[in-house]
Amino acid sequence: MRSTFFAEEDTREQLAAFVRRTSRLSMGEECARFEQAFAAYQQRRYAVLVANGSLANLGLIQALLNVGRLQKGDRVGVSAVTWATNVMPLLQLGLVPVAVDCSIDHLNVTSQTVEEHVDDLRTLFLTNALGFCGDIDRIRSLCSAHDVVLIEDNCESLGTRYRGTMLGNFGLASTFSFFVGHHLSTIEGGMICTDDEELYHMLLMVRSHGWDRSLPADKQQALRSAHGVDDFHARYTFYASAFNLRPTEITGFLGSLQLPLLERTIQRRQQNFRRFQAAIAGRPDLYHSLAVDHLERISNFAMPVIARSEDILQRTLRRFEAAGIEIRPIIAGDISLHPFWRASLPPASCPGARKIHAQGFYFPNNADVTDDEVDLLCDLLTTDSR
Ligand SMILES: Cc1ncc(COP(=O)(O)O)c(C=O)c1O
Repeated sequence: MRSTFFAEEDTREQLAAFVRRTSRLSMGEECARFEQAFAAYQQRRYAVLVANGSLANLGLIQALLNVGRLQKGDRVGVSAVTWATNVMPLLQLGLVPVAVDCSIDHLNVTSQTVEEHVDDLRTLFLTNALGFCGDIDRIRSLCSAHDVVLIEDNCESLGTRYRGTMLGNFGLASTFSFFVGHHLSTIEGGMICTDDEELYHMLLMVRSHGWDRSLPADKQQALRSAHGVDDFHARYTFYASAFNLRPTEITGFLGSLQLPLLERTIQRRQQNFRRFQAAIAGRPDLYHSLAVDHLERISNFAMPVIARSEDILQRTLRRFEAAGIEIRPIIAGDISLHPFWRASLPPASCPGARKIHAQGFYFPNNADVTDDEVDLLCDLLTTDSR
């Protein structure tokens, strides 16, 4: 069984001691402490901790609607290779997702695939899949030239650097997941980062029922006088469409414990990644190699592989199964092929994503795998007998 945390034993012991000694378990100082540390790590002005990455996406979209950066009915580009709860909040909140194809070289959208849609979009909510990205600097320029708001779902790429900039810092805002097995685990957990103060204040309200309690005092006063609310009724006055997305102090405590270990886990996973990548490159007859030279640092928690054919995928699947190692599709594959998409949206033409869907798979790249286990995984990849 794989661990829930990096430094599992110590983390569980510290967590147990924290739960015993703390007088407060609902959102409070521990959450604020982790938010500050995370914002500093990510080099963003603001970070808002929420209960998971899916709710980070939901909260961000709601906040953008509330501040008028999105309007109901807007067409929002999404990476065709993404996760369901990247797209579902758009549908739930009255927006129209448009699938943008992903290149099999990068696993992600590129300026070329964005260009096909950019005239038609108000926002691009791209997913940085599995620690990789396309030419995201050019995508950003393209978006700003066309007045398209760029936001990033960075739930799978915390710590990857592209030409000196961390992924998650290219758009107006970005979301993160701290679910078990991700770069940093708080069991469940998510974050929204931005440098935009107005959006930050709205995120604080969207996270907590739409009331003003988390806002700075001057913002509270401004809202209360604009709406004629006295201090007594202010406790239960709701200003903006919102949810309850709050984490607990356990999430904040675990985040602060795990964050200082993040660099070590990224390094370890990067070493594993390089070995898997070399094994794959040694069998060009079986697999397609990803383009990674444009990435200064890769932060990868699951190793994606695209087989040259569905037949090769099936043979590889059988080898991994026989060794008792579970492999999975590359995220959700082509999101436009899923029943929920088909039920409410027109079919999309995404040949790259379709190939990733039909011929791709991934296996975990855990920071605590041993060298022997890495050898075994490389052998399983390369030892193909028909
Ligand atoms: C790209 C992407 N977005 C959002 C999520 C949702 O995160 P969570 O599992 O924390 O809800 C995931 C989950 O792994 C994801 O891969």
